[in-house]
This record gives sequence, structure tokens and C-alpha cells, in this order.
Amino acid sequence: MFHVVTADVFDRPLLDELCGLTTVTRTMAKSREGLRFLQELLPTRRAMLYFTQPSTRTFLSMNNACHILGVRTSEIRNPDVSSEVKGETFEDSIRTFSSYVDLIIMRTPQAGYAARAADLMDAIPRPVPVVNAGSGKDQHPTQALLDIYTLERSFENDGGVEGKTIGMMGDLRRGRTVRSLCRLLRHYPGVRLVFISPPAFEMEPDIKAYLEAHGTAYRETDNLSDCLPELDAIYVTRVQSEHDLENESSQVDFSRYSVGVDELRRMKPSAVIMHPLPRGPELRPEIDGDPRSMYWRQERNGLWMRVALIATVLGVADEIRAAAPRFAAL
Ligand code: NCD
Repeated sequence: MFHVVTADVFDRPLLDELCGLTTVTRTMAKSREGLRFLQELLPTRRAMLYFTQPSTRTFLSMNNACHILGVRTSEIRNPDVSSEVKGETFEDSIRTFSSYVDLIIMRTPQAGYAARAADLMDAIPRPVPVVNAGSGKDQHPTQALLDIYTLERSFENDGGVEGKTIGMMGDLRRGRTVRSLCRLLRHYPGVRLVFISPPAFEMEPDIKAYLEAHGTAYRETDNLSDCLPELDAIYVTRVQSEHDLENESSQVDFSRYSVGVDELRRMKPSAVIMHPLPRGPELRPEIDGDPRSMYWRQERNGLWMRVALIATVLGVADEIRAAAPRFAAL
């Protein structure tokens, strides 16, 4: 693995490896000695966080994951303060970052830009890896990784993710998190997906074709009530109104696509409720205290999954694994 542009770079062995490494780093970080070990792994490496689209969790978890590994970071979060305002091309900006750092982590409002950055890197003499932290409506591979890890952890005493029925609800047409997660879930045999959305916001045909090609079962419904009792997990998403053309989402009633106390009553006692956050009215704060609500743990898992990913991309995963037994007992 060099670049992480789409979820397709992860096959099942790599997913299992990354989930294992996430648990190792999470456990190590419980002791001061473990944290210090991690901190001393990459003190000579530098990363660039290039985020020209709003972000709280992904930015902070990437930034802190770098710091946990000793990687120093620089950032551009607002293209108005970069040379792009002087007309510098995207390609020249990316090439410039690569002159100064060893890793580029980037989020853009447009689809396809992380892929463009990776292609550029592959064509220059001193390439650095590119990690996609969200590209338009298209892809969010590192979110999908932490989602897989959260599902794996939630079902670890219940046979794992295999064979589970997983609902995805909300604005499926424009949500990049669910699109990337579908691409990873096809690696888990027996998983059945239920897409729950208003018809105008259903999952795009490319993802449905992808699931069909890989033999992953899915069905679509506009009725949450009908499928609630059968779900082992529900992945709730918000309306991506920033992509609205002519207020299209305000013309649709999304109020039926929300989870609160009433919905919880009808779900399995073991069900898992996830959300990539930030949330809107589709996920009621009243259910935050329910043991099935997994989104705050999911958010925290994101930090450790990103530590594992950056460690892997920058080549210290084996070193962490080899040292793990030393810290297990602390
Ligand atoms: C998601 C994103 O940016 O796609 N947020 C995140 O990274 N946790 C989901 C969203 O904004 O709805």
C-alpha cells in the first residue's frame, strides 16, 4: 500500500491486519511507556494536512494520529491563504507540498482530486503517499476503515461482521461514507445490506452494480419501520445539503429517516447504531446513553485506526507489532 485514494486498496487480509494493528496501538496507548514508544517511531517524518473542505473529526484525528506517532504536521485548511489564489494549479500546489513533507493527507469538495494528486505523485521523481480524507460525494476510505473496525469490535463476541444485516439510512445518493463502506463490506461473506432512503436519495447505481458484481446482497426500501427488527446494525447519515442544487433536500421529508427512542424500542437488544457524525435531526441525543449507540466509540476508534493506517503507510507497522507483547502487560 502506498496511496490510499479509494477503499479498493484494502483487501480482506489488509483489513484484518489494520484492525489488529488498531487494537494493538489502542492498547499500547493506555500506558505512558506505550505512548512514548509510539511517539518515538517517526520523529523525522512530516505530513501535510491539506483540507479545503470543512472537517472536525477527520482533521483532528489525522492530525493527532500523526502526533501520536511523532510525525510533525503542517496544514492548509483554507485555499484563500495558499498560492491557489494567485492562480497556482492544483497539481503545482500538490507537487510543492511533496517537496516539504513525507505524506499528504487531503480532503477536497470535488470528487477525483485525491486520485489526481496520487497520479501526479506517481509521475514525479520524489513521490510521497497521498491519503484521501474525503473527496466530494465520492469516497471516504479512512472513514470506511474505522467503520469496519467499529463493526468488528461490536460483533467480536457474536461471530464478527460476516452474515450480519446492516442498514444504511439517509442521503445515500450523496453520502461518501456509505459508498466507501459498501466497498469494504463486500469482503465480509454473508453480509446483507438494507438501503433505507427516500427514493430521490437512493444509493447510486455504480455502488449497486459493484455489490452485484461481488455477490453482496442488498435491498432497498423507503420504510425504516419495516426493517428495524431485522437489523444487526444501522448506519445513520445526515442530509448532505451542502451539495443541494435548488434546495432539493428541503423538498423531501427526511423526518421518517431518523433514530430516536421509539426506533430503539423496535430494534434488537444487540443492535449497533452508528453515524459518521456530524449529526443532524436524524440521530436524537436522547439515545446517546443507550449501550447500542456506538457513534462516540466509533469516533474515537477513528483516531486509533488512523494511527494504524499512517504507521502502515510510513512503514513502521511491523515494529509496532513486534513491540506489542512488551506493553500488553503494563
Ligand atoms: C463525514 C464526511 O465528511 O463525509 N464526516 C466525517 O468525516 N466524519 C460525514 C458527513 O459529513 O456527513
